[in-house]
Amino acid sequence: MREISSRLKEGGVSEYAREAEIIITESTGLSRSEIYTHNPALSRKSLSRVNEFVKRRLTGEPLQYITGRVDFLGEEYLIGPGVLIPRPETEILVEELLAIVETSGIKSPSVLDLGTGSGCIAISIALRLRNAGVIAIDSSREALKYARLNGERLGVEVTFLEGDLYEPAGDKKFDIIVSNPPYVRTAEIPALQREVAGFEPAGALDGGADGLDVIRRIILGGREHLRKGGYLFLEVGPGQAGQVGELGLEAGYRHASTVKDLAGIERVVILAG
Ligand SMILES: C[S@@+](CC[C@H](N)C(=O)[O-])C[C@H]1O[C@@H](n2cnc3c(N)ncnc32)[C@H](O)[C@@H]1O
Repeated sequence: MREISSRLKEGGVSEYAREAEIIITESTGLSRSEIYTHNPALSRKSLSRVNEFVKRRLTGEPLQYITGRVDFLGEEYLIGPGVLIPRPETEILVEELLAIVETSGIKSPSVLDLGTGSGCIAISIALRLRNAGVIAIDSSREALKYARLNGERLGVEVTFLEGDLYEPAGDKKFDIIVSNPPYVRTAEIPALQREVAGFEPAGALDGGADGLDVIRRIILGGREHLRKGGYLFLEVGPGQAGQVGELGLEAGYRHASTVKDLAGIERVVILAG
């Protein structure tokens, strides 16, 4: 444990102790308490897995791609290169959505998740709103492989479709549209953490010159696809919420509100249709 921890520290991994623990438990099958209470003799196979995991991590590859798993709202999602790693901020987006659906009185909501990635938003909604009909779209075939797999593993019926934003939904209308779209400014991508810039799919991050290219299209398309009385929920980047709210009002939505994340950043914009 000490050796792995210091190799990660020297390699610039900030949470080296926590990550060493995860690498050892994941690659050996030992529990947390076992790695601290014993000094277990590891098989050659386990040792080489530990070394392989450490080597990959030292290239900057995110730990979640190496273990292939991530927790989102208490459920386990399988992920890998080619799909965005679900973030804690996105849990806030889903929690807000669930709270508003509950108070809105919409009984069996039809829900559209645009840019579903691993499927974490669509699936966690389907798990919690058993009467909802959920459609989830992504333009990335690779991401959809994970989304479908996660849907099956977690036992929900979500319809996953491949295509550009609303296009696979035809002229269908929804009570709820939700998206965590790409919203990073193109010029800012190279300066993101090496784990993100070097490993996560550019198509999941790049929101164009001002970061709002995809958001603008979602807001405009929502005017055609959102039922009266419905809601559009968008995750946005730091400093974008005000402008996104204005874009919504200019496009004809009745009302715009925002929700902060745990760091105090306005992270979710809610537009009432
Ligand atoms: C920021 S990621 C969000 C993934 C997932 N919803 C989450 O919250 O973890 C954005 C996703 O949008 C998808 N995407 C980007 N442009 C798209 C488009 N024009 N049509 C459909 N999906 C798109 C990307 O492939 C990526 O999976």
